[in-house]
Amino acid sequence: MDRRSFIKRTGVASLGIGLNFHKTFSKTKNDITLPIVIATWDVKKATQKAWEILLKNGDSLDAIEQGCRIEEANEKGQSVGIGGLPDREGNVSLDACIMDYKGNCGSVVYLKNIKHAISVARLVMEKTPHVMLAGDGAKKFAVSMGFKEENLLTEKSEADWVKWKKKEKYNPIINIENHDTIGMLAIDKNNNISGGCTTSGLAYKMQGRVGDSPIIGSGLYIDNEIGGAVATGLGEEVIKTVGSFLVVELMRQGYSPEEACKTAIHRIVNKPGSNYQNFQVGYIAINKNGDTGSYAIQKGFSMTKYDMNGNENISSLFFDKKI
Ligand code: GLY
Repeated sequence: MDRRSFIKRTGVASLGIGLNFHKTFSKTKNDITLPIVIATWDVKKATQKAWEILLKNGDSLDAIEQGCRIEEANEKGQSVGIGGLPDREGNVSLDACIMDYKGNCGSVVYLKNIKHAISVARLVMEKTPHVMLAGDGAKKFAVSMGFKEENLLTEKSEADWVKWKKKEKYNPIINIENHDTIGMLAIDKNNNISGGCTTSGLAYKMQGRVGDSPIIGSGLYIDNEIGGAVATGLGEEVIKTVGSFLVVELMRQGYSPEEACKTAIHRIVNKPGSNYQNFQVGYIAINKNGDTGSYAIQKGFSMTKYDMNGNENISSLFFDKKI
């Protein structure tokens, strides 16, 4: 890439950082340039925000929190934060978790009326002796930390719910709005990996249902010696296979991120009696060398990746029963 297109694609000049490579970037032992951020689905504004932080030598944890907040504040996204589709009774409830490169983690489950669940999860990690807060306790904690309560059910999501109620047919929707849980993984210039995951969960779930996204090891797992993984799709299936932990453990055994994601997906589809044709699960992963990969059950999943080559949405490979 020439200097002009490099500046255009990375936004380095606009941040006033200049092109002093070593101040802004570093290399892994396999010569991959850091930083890197990846996320589930086509969420370029979220990866852009994370990248801006990483490019200022920001910490991967800050990049994750700020990147996830972009989607939580996006009213048009019906699976994360404000605008999320509600449960069967019309309640929007959010699940989120965050994990840093020191092995610290925090999560919130069944959080209502607070859109930035990822930030509450971070504060659970940093300000409490616990890992997980749920329901009213999570909300009370968020309010005590200065978060504003608001109605998360937008007109559009309410109208969709009212329409759904006419039939009340419960079916997981594959690639809902081409946008399900937002999971993000970042590796900063200091080669430190953090991750986060935020969602309003399955549309029209039973009241009180919690998916994989706030469960460390299922929706998200980071081991700074090895790498990180995050999941999207039908949480029940991810929980049953402890999916993100599995992906990281496979990378520990030497699998590439893509091979590890693929093997974890095969673990789901090969379960006796699996009805995998009817739901989606997708994983993305990054290893300590900065290699990235993704894999899903169904066609339609994608990963957004922002590295020194730009901000790109990449279609994921998916399970093909003929192979
Ligand atoms: N992966 C999101 C959920 O199942 O809640």
